[in-house]
Amino acid sequence: VAPLKVGIAGLGTVGAEVVRLIETQARVLAGRSGRGIRVVAVTARSKAKKRGVDLRGVEWARDPMALATHPEVDCFVELMGGAGDPALSAVEAALSAGKSVVTANKALLARHGLKLAKAAEKHGGALNFEAAVGAAIPVIKTLREGLAGTGIDRVYGILNGTCNYILTRMEQEGLSFAECLKDAQRLGYAEADPSFDVDGHDTAQKLAILASLAFGTKVAQSAVYVEGISSIAPEDLRAAADLGYRVKLLGVAVRTTKGIEQRVHPTMVPKSSSIAQVMGVTNAVTIDGEGIPPITLVGPGAGGAATASAVVADIADVARGIRANPFGRPISQLRDTKKAPMERH
Ligand code: NDP
Ligand code: HSE
Repeated sequence: VAPLKVGIAGLGTVGAEVVRLIETQARVLAGRSGRGIRVVAVTARSKAKKRGVDLRGVEWARDPMALATHPEVDCFVELMGGAGDPALSAVEAALSAGKSVVTANKALLARHGLKLAKAAEKHGGALNFEAAVGAAIPVIKTLREGLAGTGIDRVYGILNGTCNYILTRMEQEGLSFAECLKDAQRLGYAEADPSFDVDGHDTAQKLAILASLAFGTKVAQSAVYVEGISSIAPEDLRAAADLGYRVKLLGVAVRTTKGIEQRVHPTMVPKSSSIAQVMGVTNAVTIDGEGIPPITLVGPGAGGAATASAVVADIADVARGIRANPFGRPISQLRDTKKAPMERH
Protein backbone atom coordinates (compact mmCIF):
# COMPACT_ATOMS: atom_id res chain seq x y z
CA VAL A 1 0.00 0.00 0.00
CA ALA A 2 1.33 3.47 -0.86
CA PRO A 3 2.30 5.61 2.13
CA LEU A 4 0.10 8.51 3.20
CA LYS A 5 1.82 11.68 2.03
CA VAL A 6 1.64 14.48 4.56
CA GLY A 7 2.26 18.23 4.23
CA ILE A 8 2.81 20.21 7.43
CA ALA A 9 2.24 23.97 7.65
CA GLY A 10 3.80 25.31 10.86
CA LEU A 11 7.00 23.99 12.40
CA GLY A 12 6.85 25.61 15.83
CA THR A 13 6.31 23.97 19.24
CA VAL A 14 3.80 21.45 17.86
CA GLY A 15 4.77 21.15 14.18
CA ALA A 16 8.44 20.32 14.79
CA GLU A 17 7.41 17.70 17.34
CA VAL A 18 4.97 16.14 14.84
CA VAL A 19 7.79 15.80 12.28
CA ARG A 20 9.97 14.19 14.96
CA LEU A 21 7.26 11.79 16.13
CA ILE A 22 6.38 10.63 12.60
CA GLU A 23 10.04 9.78 12.10
CA THR A 24 10.76 8.13 15.45
CA GLN A 25 7.45 6.19 15.55
CA ALA A 26 7.46 5.23 11.88
CA ARG A 27 7.34 1.48 12.49
CA VAL A 28 4.62 1.62 15.15
CA LEU A 29 2.55 3.96 13.00
CA ALA A 30 2.91 1.78 9.92
CA GLY A 31 1.86 -1.25 11.97
CA ARG A 32 -1.23 0.49 13.32
CA SER A 33 -2.21 2.22 10.10
CA GLY A 34 -1.45 -0.60 7.69
CA ARG A 35 0.65 1.80 5.63
CA GLY A 36 3.56 4.17 6.00
CA ILE A 37 3.21 7.87 6.80
CA ARG A 38 5.66 10.16 5.05
CA VAL A 39 6.17 13.90 5.42
CA VAL A 40 6.71 15.06 1.83
CA ALA A 41 6.53 18.85 2.19
CA VAL A 42 6.49 21.50 4.91
CA THR A 43 6.30 25.27 5.27
CA ALA A 44 6.66 27.96 7.93
CA ARG A 45 7.41 31.67 7.96
CA SER A 46 11.20 31.32 8.07
CA LYS A 47 13.02 28.73 5.99
CA ALA A 48 16.31 29.56 7.72
CA LYS A 49 15.20 28.93 11.33
CA LYS A 50 16.70 25.83 13.01
CA ARG A 51 13.92 23.39 13.94
CA GLY A 52 15.87 20.61 15.65
CA VAL A 53 14.38 18.01 13.28
CA ASP A 54 15.68 16.33 10.15
CA LEU A 55 14.05 17.86 7.08
CA ARG A 56 16.45 16.44 4.51
CA GLY A 57 14.55 15.16 1.50
CA VAL A 58 11.43 17.11 2.51
CA GLU A 59 10.26 19.79 0.07
CA TRP A 60 9.88 23.36 1.36
CA ALA A 61 6.60 24.74 -0.03
CA ARG A 62 6.47 28.42 -1.00
CA ASP A 63 3.55 29.17 1.37
CA PRO A 64 0.65 27.45 3.20
CA MET A 65 -1.66 27.67 0.16
CA ALA A 66 0.93 26.05 -2.12
CA LEU A 67 1.30 23.26 0.44
CA ALA A 68 -2.47 22.81 0.91
CA THR A 69 -2.95 22.34 -2.84
CA HIS A 70 0.30 20.46 -3.47
CA PRO A 71 -0.50 17.57 -5.83
CA GLU A 72 1.68 15.17 -3.80
CA VAL A 73 0.00 15.93 -0.45
CA ASP A 74 -2.85 13.60 0.65
CA CYS A 75 -3.17 15.01 4.16
CA PHE A 76 -2.67 18.70 5.00
CA VAL A 77 -1.63 19.31 8.61
CA GLU A 78 -2.29 22.88 9.77
CA LEU A 79 -0.20 23.87 12.81
CA MET A 80 0.21 27.62 12.31
CA GLY A 81 -2.67 28.83 14.49
CA GLY A 82 -5.06 31.77 14.16
CA ALA A 83 -8.71 31.95 13.14
CA GLY A 84 -7.96 33.87 9.93
CA ASP A 85 -5.60 33.55 7.02
CA PRO A 86 -3.37 31.86 6.08
CA ALA A 87 -4.79 28.98 8.17
CA LEU A 88 -8.42 29.48 7.04
CA SER A 89 -7.81 29.73 3.28
CA ALA A 90 -5.27 26.93 3.31
CA VAL A 91 -7.57 24.53 5.18
CA GLU A 92 -10.50 25.46 2.93
CA ALA A 93 -8.36 24.92 -0.17
CA ALA A 94 -7.13 21.53 1.03
CA LEU A 95 -10.68 20.38 1.86
CA SER A 96 -12.03 21.69 -1.46
CA ALA A 97 -9.36 19.66 -3.23
CA GLY A 98 -10.72 16.55 -1.46
CA LYS A 99 -7.70 16.22 0.83
CA SER A 100 -7.92 15.35 4.48
CA VAL A 101 -6.99 17.96 7.07
CA VAL A 102 -5.58 17.56 10.57
CA THR A 103 -5.36 20.64 12.77
CA ALA A 104 -4.82 21.62 16.42
CA ASN A 105 -6.30 25.05 15.78
CA LYS A 106 -9.23 25.58 18.16
CA ALA A 107 -9.48 29.28 17.24
CA LEU A 108 -10.13 28.34 13.62
CA LEU A 109 -12.60 25.58 14.50
CA ALA A 110 -14.57 27.63 17.03
CA ARG A 111 -15.00 30.44 14.48
CA HIS A 112 -15.25 28.55 11.18
CA GLY A 113 -15.75 24.91 12.20
CA LEU A 114 -19.19 24.61 10.65
CA LYS A 115 -18.08 25.98 7.28
CA LEU A 116 -15.01 23.74 7.27
CA ALA A 117 -17.00 20.67 8.29
CA LYS A 118 -19.40 21.40 5.40
CA ALA A 119 -16.47 21.51 2.99
CA ALA A 120 -15.15 18.22 4.37
CA GLU A 121 -18.61 16.65 4.02
CA LYS A 122 -19.02 17.92 0.46
CA HIS A 123 -15.60 16.89 -0.84
CA GLY A 124 -15.11 13.70 1.17
CA GLY A 125 -11.91 14.44 3.10
CA ALA A 126 -11.53 13.99 6.85
CA LEU A 127 -11.32 16.98 9.21
CA ASN A 128 -9.62 15.76 12.40
CA PHE A 129 -8.84 17.96 15.40
CA GLU A 130 -8.22 15.81 18.48
CA ALA A 131 -5.31 18.04 19.56
CA ALA A 132 -7.47 21.17 19.56
CA VAL A 133 -8.97 20.34 22.98
CA GLY A 134 -7.01 18.96 25.92
CA ALA A 135 -3.88 18.24 23.82
CA ALA A 136 -3.05 14.58 24.53
CA ILE A 137 -6.41 13.77 26.19
CA PRO A 138 -8.63 11.88 23.69
CA VAL A 139 -11.73 13.88 24.58
CA ILE A 140 -12.95 14.52 21.02
CA LYS A 141 -13.00 10.80 20.25
CA THR A 142 -14.61 10.07 23.60
CA LEU A 143 -17.52 12.41 22.88
CA ARG A 144 -17.79 11.67 19.16
CA GLU A 145 -17.37 7.91 19.24
CA GLY A 146 -17.09 6.45 22.75
CA LEU A 147 -20.23 8.20 24.01
CA ALA A 148 -22.09 8.34 20.69
CA GLY A 149 -25.02 6.44 22.21
CA THR A 150 -25.24 8.42 25.43
CA GLY A 151 -27.33 11.55 26.03
CA ILE A 152 -25.07 14.19 27.59
CA ASP A 153 -26.24 16.65 30.23
CA ARG A 154 -23.06 18.55 31.04
CA VAL A 155 -19.40 18.86 30.01
CA TYR A 156 -17.04 20.88 32.13
CA GLY A 157 -13.48 21.16 33.23
CA ILE A 158 -10.07 22.76 33.10
CA LEU A 159 -9.32 23.28 29.43
CA ASN A 160 -6.35 25.65 29.40
CA GLY A 161 -2.93 24.41 30.49
CA THR A 162 -1.39 27.88 30.67
CA CYS A 163 -4.01 29.20 33.10
CA ASN A 164 -3.88 26.15 35.34
CA TYR A 165 -0.08 26.29 35.34
CA ILE A 166 -0.16 29.99 36.31
CA LEU A 167 -2.78 29.50 39.05
CA THR A 168 -0.87 26.51 40.46
CA ARG A 169 2.48 28.29 40.66
CA MET A 170 0.96 31.50 42.02
CA GLU A 171 -0.73 29.50 44.78
CA GLN A 172 2.13 27.15 45.60
CA GLU A 173 5.10 29.50 45.18
CA GLY A 174 3.53 32.92 45.67
CA LEU A 175 4.94 34.06 42.30
CA SER A 176 3.44 36.94 40.37
CA PHE A 177 1.06 36.42 37.49
CA ALA A 178 3.61 37.92 35.04
CA GLU A 179 6.46 35.60 36.13
CA CYS A 180 4.28 32.50 35.78
CA LEU A 181 3.01 33.57 32.36
CA LYS A 182 6.57 34.11 31.14
CA ASP A 183 7.46 30.53 32.18
CA ALA A 184 4.35 29.15 30.46
CA GLN A 185 5.46 30.90 27.27
CA ARG A 186 9.03 29.60 27.60
CA LEU A 187 7.69 26.04 28.01
CA GLY A 188 5.60 26.30 24.82
CA TYR A 189 2.22 26.13 26.59
CA ALA A 190 0.89 29.59 25.76
CA GLU A 191 -0.69 30.78 22.52
CA ALA A 192 1.29 33.10 20.22
CA ASP A 193 -0.88 35.86 21.75
CA PRO A 194 -1.14 34.75 25.41
CA SER A 195 -4.13 37.00 26.05
CA PHE A 196 -6.15 34.23 24.39
CA ASP A 197 -5.13 31.99 27.28
CA VAL A 198 -5.38 34.34 30.25
CA ASP A 199 -8.51 36.18 29.10
CA GLY A 200 -10.35 32.88 28.76
CA HIS A 201 -10.87 32.88 24.97
CA ASP A 202 -8.85 29.70 24.40
CA THR A 203 -11.00 27.90 26.98
CA ALA A 204 -14.13 29.32 25.30
CA GLN A 205 -13.01 28.04 21.90
CA LYS A 206 -12.41 24.56 23.30
CA LEU A 207 -15.70 24.60 25.20
CA ALA A 208 -17.59 25.57 22.03
CA ILE A 209 -16.07 22.56 20.24
CA LEU A 210 -16.90 20.18 23.11
CA ALA A 211 -20.45 21.54 23.39
CA SER A 212 -21.05 20.96 19.69
CA LEU A 213 -19.94 17.35 20.00
CA ALA A 214 -21.79 16.75 23.26
CA PHE A 215 -25.13 18.32 22.36
CA GLY A 216 -25.31 18.13 18.57
CA THR A 217 -25.28 21.92 18.22
CA LYS A 218 -23.50 24.21 15.76
CA VAL A 219 -20.09 25.16 17.08
CA ALA A 220 -20.23 28.87 18.00
CA GLN A 221 -17.65 30.66 20.13
CA SER A 222 -19.90 33.72 20.27
CA ALA A 223 -22.39 31.76 22.40
CA VAL A 224 -19.90 31.44 25.28
CA TYR A 225 -19.78 33.86 28.24
CA VAL A 226 -16.09 34.52 28.98
CA GLU A 227 -14.12 35.82 31.96
CA GLY A 228 -10.38 35.20 32.38
CA ILE A 229 -7.79 35.10 35.14
CA SER A 230 -5.62 38.13 34.39
CA SER A 231 -6.85 40.17 37.35
CA ILE A 232 -6.21 37.39 39.90
CA ALA A 233 -3.35 38.06 42.38
CA PRO A 234 -1.53 35.65 44.75
CA GLU A 235 -3.46 37.27 47.66
CA ASP A 236 -6.77 36.21 46.10
CA LEU A 237 -5.57 32.62 45.95
CA ARG A 238 -4.39 32.80 49.57
CA ALA A 239 -7.75 34.18 50.68
CA ALA A 240 -9.53 31.35 48.86
CA ALA A 241 -7.14 28.80 50.44
CA ASP A 242 -7.89 30.16 53.94
CA LEU A 243 -11.56 29.40 53.27
CA GLY A 244 -10.72 25.87 52.04
CA TYR A 245 -10.93 26.59 48.30
CA ARG A 246 -8.76 26.71 45.20
CA VAL A 247 -9.39 28.93 42.19
CA LYS A 248 -9.63 27.19 38.81
CA LEU A 249 -10.55 28.56 35.40
CA LEU A 250 -13.47 26.33 34.39
CA GLY A 251 -15.35 25.94 31.15
CA VAL A 252 -18.89 24.66 31.65
CA ALA A 253 -21.45 23.65 29.00
CA VAL A 254 -24.80 22.47 30.28
CA ARG A 255 -28.15 21.55 28.78
CA THR A 256 -30.93 23.77 30.14
CA THR A 257 -34.56 24.39 29.31
CA LYS A 258 -33.48 27.46 27.29
CA GLY A 259 -30.82 25.74 25.25
CA ILE A 260 -27.14 25.09 25.84
CA GLU A 261 -25.52 27.37 28.41
CA GLN A 262 -21.77 27.82 27.92
CA ARG A 263 -19.55 29.81 30.27
CA VAL A 264 -15.92 30.28 31.19
CA HIS A 265 -14.87 31.94 34.45
CA PRO A 266 -12.61 31.54 37.48
CA THR A 267 -14.37 29.35 40.03
CA MET A 268 -13.72 28.61 43.73
CA VAL A 269 -13.70 24.82 44.11
CA PRO A 270 -13.43 23.02 47.48
CA LYS A 271 -9.84 21.86 48.06
CA SER A 272 -11.10 18.34 48.72
CA SER A 273 -12.81 18.05 45.30
CA SER A 274 -11.13 16.05 42.55
CA ILE A 275 -10.98 19.05 40.20
CA ALA A 276 -8.98 20.96 42.82
CA GLN A 277 -6.28 18.27 42.63
CA VAL A 278 -5.63 19.02 38.94
CA MET A 279 -2.42 21.03 39.03
CA GLY A 280 0.06 22.55 36.62
CA VAL A 281 -0.37 22.20 32.87
CA THR A 282 -2.79 19.30 33.37
CA ASN A 283 -6.33 19.52 31.96
CA ALA A 284 -9.41 17.61 33.14
CA VAL A 285 -12.76 17.17 31.43
CA THR A 286 -15.82 15.68 33.14
CA ILE A 287 -18.78 14.42 31.12
CA ASP A 288 -22.13 13.85 32.85
CA GLY A 289 -24.18 11.48 30.74
CA GLU A 290 -27.61 9.90 30.95
CA GLY A 291 -27.69 6.87 33.23
CA ILE A 292 -23.93 6.64 33.79
CA PRO A 293 -21.70 8.03 36.55
CA PRO A 294 -19.57 11.02 35.47
CA ILE A 295 -16.55 10.25 33.29
CA THR A 296 -13.42 12.33 33.90
CA LEU A 297 -10.45 12.43 31.56
CA VAL A 298 -7.22 13.92 32.93
CA GLY A 299 -3.90 14.53 31.18
CA PRO A 300 -1.36 16.96 29.81
CA GLY A 301 -3.23 19.89 28.28
CA ALA A 302 -0.48 21.71 26.41
CA GLY A 303 3.11 21.41 25.18
CA GLY A 304 4.75 20.16 22.02
CA ALA A 305 5.00 16.44 22.80
CA ALA A 306 1.51 16.11 24.31
CA THR A 307 -0.11 17.93 21.42
CA ALA A 308 1.90 16.17 18.74
CA SER A 309 0.78 12.77 20.06
CA ALA A 310 -2.86 13.68 19.29
CA VAL A 311 -1.99 15.22 15.92
CA VAL A 312 -0.12 12.07 14.89
CA ALA A 313 -3.02 9.86 16.05
CA ASP A 314 -5.32 11.93 13.80
CA ILE A 315 -2.92 11.49 10.87
CA ALA A 316 -2.86 7.74 11.56
CA ASP A 317 -6.68 7.70 11.35
CA VAL A 318 -6.46 9.33 7.94
CA ALA A 319 -3.90 6.72 6.88
CA ARG A 320 -6.31 3.97 8.01
CA GLY A 321 -9.11 5.53 5.99
CA ILE A 322 -11.23 6.41 9.02
CA ARG A 323 -13.47 9.39 8.39
CA ALA A 324 -15.84 10.62 11.09
CA ASN A 325 -18.35 13.47 10.85
CA PRO A 326 -16.18 16.28 12.28
CA PHE A 327 -18.80 17.35 14.84
CA GLY A 328 -20.26 13.91 15.34
CA ARG A 329 -23.33 14.25 13.10
CA PRO A 330 -24.08 15.28 9.53
CA ILE A 331 -24.07 19.10 9.32
CA SER A 332 -27.79 19.13 8.44
CA GLN A 333 -28.56 17.60 11.86
CA LEU A 334 -26.67 20.15 13.97
CA ARG A 335 -28.99 22.54 15.81
CA ASP A 336 -28.69 26.11 16.94
CA THR A 337 -27.17 26.53 20.43
CA LYS A 338 -29.84 28.95 21.66
CA LYS A 339 -32.77 27.05 20.20
CA ALA A 340 -31.63 23.59 21.21
CA PRO A 341 -34.57 21.93 22.98
CA MET A 342 -34.07 20.59 26.46
CA GLU A 343 -34.38 16.91 25.62
CA ARG A 344 -31.19 14.92 25.22
CA HIS A 345 -29.85 14.57 21.70
P1 NDP B 1 4.11 28.23 17.33
O1 NDP B 1 3.94 29.70 17.39
O2 NDP B 1 5.17 27.59 18.15
O3 NDP B 1 4.33 27.78 15.81
C1 NDP B 1 3.60 28.32 14.76
C2 NDP B 1 4.26 27.88 13.45
O4 NDP B 1 3.50 28.37 12.36
C3 NDP B 1 5.68 28.43 13.28
O5 NDP B 1 6.52 27.46 12.71
C4 NDP B 1 5.49 29.61 12.31
O6 NDP B 1 6.62 29.83 11.47
C5 NDP B 1 4.33 29.10 11.47
N1 NDP B 1 3.56 30.20 10.92
C6 NDP B 1 2.91 31.18 11.57
N2 NDP B 1 2.34 32.03 10.70
C7 NDP B 1 2.65 31.57 9.47
C8 NDP B 1 2.40 32.04 8.15
N3 NDP B 1 1.71 33.16 7.94
N4 NDP B 1 2.87 31.31 7.11
C9 NDP B 1 3.59 30.19 7.32
N5 NDP B 1 3.87 29.71 8.55
C10 NDP B 1 3.41 30.40 9.61
O7 NDP B 1 2.68 27.62 17.69
P2 NDP B 1 2.35 26.20 18.33
O8 NDP B 1 3.14 25.16 17.67
O9 NDP B 1 2.40 26.32 19.81
O10 NDP B 1 0.80 26.06 17.97
C11 NDP B 1 0.37 25.66 16.69
C12 NDP B 1 -1.12 25.37 16.72
O11 NDP B 1 -1.37 24.34 17.66
C13 NDP B 1 -2.00 26.55 17.17
O12 NDP B 1 -3.22 26.49 16.51
C14 NDP B 1 -2.20 26.29 18.65
O13 NDP B 1 -3.36 26.88 19.15
C15 NDP B 1 -2.32 24.79 18.64
N6 NDP B 1 -2.03 24.12 19.89
C16 NDP B 1 -0.87 24.39 20.56
C17 NDP B 1 -0.59 23.74 21.72
C18 NDP B 1 0.65 24.01 22.50
O14 NDP B 1 0.76 23.49 23.61
N7 NDP B 1 1.60 24.77 22.00
C19 NDP B 1 -1.53 22.76 22.28
C20 NDP B 1 -2.72 22.53 21.48
C21 NDP B 1 -2.95 23.20 20.34
P3 NDP B 1 8.06 30.27 12.05
O15 NDP B 1 8.51 29.17 12.96
O16 NDP B 1 8.93 30.41 10.85
O17 NDP B 1 7.81 31.55 12.78
N1 HSE C 1 -2.38 27.55 25.00
C1 HSE C 1 -3.10 26.35 25.16
C2 HSE C 1 -3.16 25.99 26.63
C3 HSE C 1 -2.45 25.25 24.38
O1 HSE C 1 -2.36 26.53 27.40
O2 HSE C 1 -3.99 25.18 27.02
C4 HSE C 1 -3.22 23.96 24.39
O3 HSE C 1 -4.40 24.07 23.67
